[in-house]
Amino acid sequence: MRILAILGSLRRESYNRQLLGQAAALLPTGAELIEWDGLRAVPPFSEDDEQDPGAAVLALRSAIAAADAVLVVTPEYNASIPGQLKNALDWASRPFPDHVLRDKLVAVIGATPSPGGTARSQADLRKVLVAIGARLLDAEVQVPHAYQQFDPAGQLVDDALRRRLELLLGEVTARGTEAA
Ligand code: FNR
Repeated sequence: MRILAILGSLRRESYNRQLLGQAAALLPTGAELIEWDGLRAVPPFSEDDEQDPGAAVLALRSAIAAADAVLVVTPEYNASIPGQLKNALDWASRPFPDHVLRDKLVAVIGATPSPGGTARSQADLRKVLVAIGARLLDAEVQVPHAYQQFDPAGQLVDDALRRRLELLLGEVTARGTEAA
C-alpha cells in the first residue's frame, strides 16, 4: 500500500512538512508514505508544452500512477491553494481524460499558524480535485495554530488531532486499494 505525499509548501521550516512527518509516524502497518519532492522543479503549465512536458512533470505523473493513494499536505495562501501546488495538479490532470489522478483516492490535510485552519485552502482543493476526477476521502484534518501544535520530536501535542490524523490514514490505507 503506497501513499504518495505531495507537500504544498516549499519552505524549509514548513509546518506542513512537520505534519507530513507526523503522518509518516502514524501510518498503519503495511502502508508506506513516499514523499514526492519534485514540486519546485515543475514548470508553469502551458498547453503548448503538453506534448513534451519535461522530466519533472513526467516524474510527477509516474509517482502518482505508482501510488495507491495520494495525501496532499498543504498550507493556505490568500484563502486558497498555493499556486505551485495548483500548477502541479493542472499538469497531473492532463492528458484528458485518461490522466493519473482519474479515480485516484486523494486525502487532504494541512497546517497553518492562523487560528482558522486551512479550511479555505482545503475547500478549494477539494473543488479542484472533484473537477479533475479524483476520488476524494471525506475525512480531512486541519491544524490551526501550527506554531504550538508540535513537540520537539515532531509529534502533534493535541491527542484528539493526532487521533483524527491516525484515523484518516487508516481510512486511506483501507480504501486506497479498493477498486474505483
Ligand atoms: C500565507 N499564510 C496564510 N495562512 C492562512 O491561514 N490563510 C491565508 O490565507 C494565508 N495566506 C498567505 C499568503 C501567502 C502568500 C503566504 C506566504 C502565507 C500564512 C501561511 O499559512 C504560513 O506562511 C505557513 O507557515 C505556510 O505553511 P508552511 O510553509 O509552514 O508549511
